[in-house]
Amino acid sequence: MPKPAPYLPLLTTHLTSSPTSTSITLTTLSTPPLSKTPLPRSRTVEFRGFFPTLNLHSSAIQSLKDQHIGLNPDIYESEMIALTTDKRMEKVQELESSGGVVEAVFWLREVGNQWRVRGKGVIIGDDIQGEKEREARGFVERGLRRKDTTTTGDGDGDGEWNWDRQVDMYFANHSPGMRGSFKNPPPGTPRSQQPENPELKLGQKVEDLKDKVARENFRVVVIRPEEVERLDINDPSNPIRTRWTAVRDGEEWEEVDLWP
Ligand SMILES: Cc1cc2nc3c(=O)[nH]c(=O)nc-3n(C[C@H](O)[C@H](O)[C@H](O)COP(=O)(O)O)c2cc1C
Repeated sequence: MPKPAPYLPLLTTHLTSSPTSTSITLTTLSTPPLSKTPLPRSRTVEFRGFFPTLNLHSSAIQSLKDQHIGLNPDIYESEMIALTTDKRMEKVQELESSGGVVEAVFWLREVGNQWRVRGKGVIIGDDIQGEKEREARGFVERGLRRKDTTTTGDGDGDGEWNWDRQVDMYFANHSPGMRGSFKNPPPGTPRSQQPENPELKLGQKVEDLKDKVARENFRVVVIRPEEVERLDINDPSNPIRTRWTAVRDGEEWEEVDLWP
């Protein structure tokens, strides 16, 4: 089982002290045949917590209960970064064809810290019958730790922890309008092109957490960190730059202070 990364308490504190800036600049690599030569691709995405810990809105909890999906028990933790996306977007193909190499950067203005997280990103949320999905879940599983629930109880869920329900929980935590965006016309295609499927249009609201069309496109990206760097610029005369590197598949972490 991987050990908790030594930087995690500080990064968590910084993220919770920066409620207005939990977006990430996520860089992936576009490799041939997606592009002629390898090219970096960056975009903003929303940080959705450390997999599988989710700060569920009360309306999400209500929908999960009402639709008889329920909640997973809160028994796992990790330092893997979760975000959500649409499988039709380019970052998904880029991750799949580049071996998942990513850098995720947080600039947390309120605390004057930049965090750069390099590692491997995989995509979950497809049918478990597929080999890619099984491999991705296996990869994420190797980064999970069982929480110490001796003092907190066994996590208060509905039955056993399971992957499909975990993806349902991420979907439920979006507003009905955001859920509807997974039924938009294909992202990145010309607006002059009408989608063949009449169910694909802008501005839809989705209440059904199992909506077939939206769930076909909804995915969770999970990034397992391998190297993490913090830059603290609060004291301009002495910025702090620290790098942590995972060794033996995250069993240990090496920490080095660097000149800024
Ligand atoms: C503030 C903000 C938050 C965003 N959050 C997400 C997100 O969580 N997931 C996502 O896929 N795209 C998000 N986007 C849109 C992406 O920046 C990007 O336009 C989209 O993912 C398509 O990128 P791609 O084709 O390179 O994959 C966000 C954009 C902004 C401005």
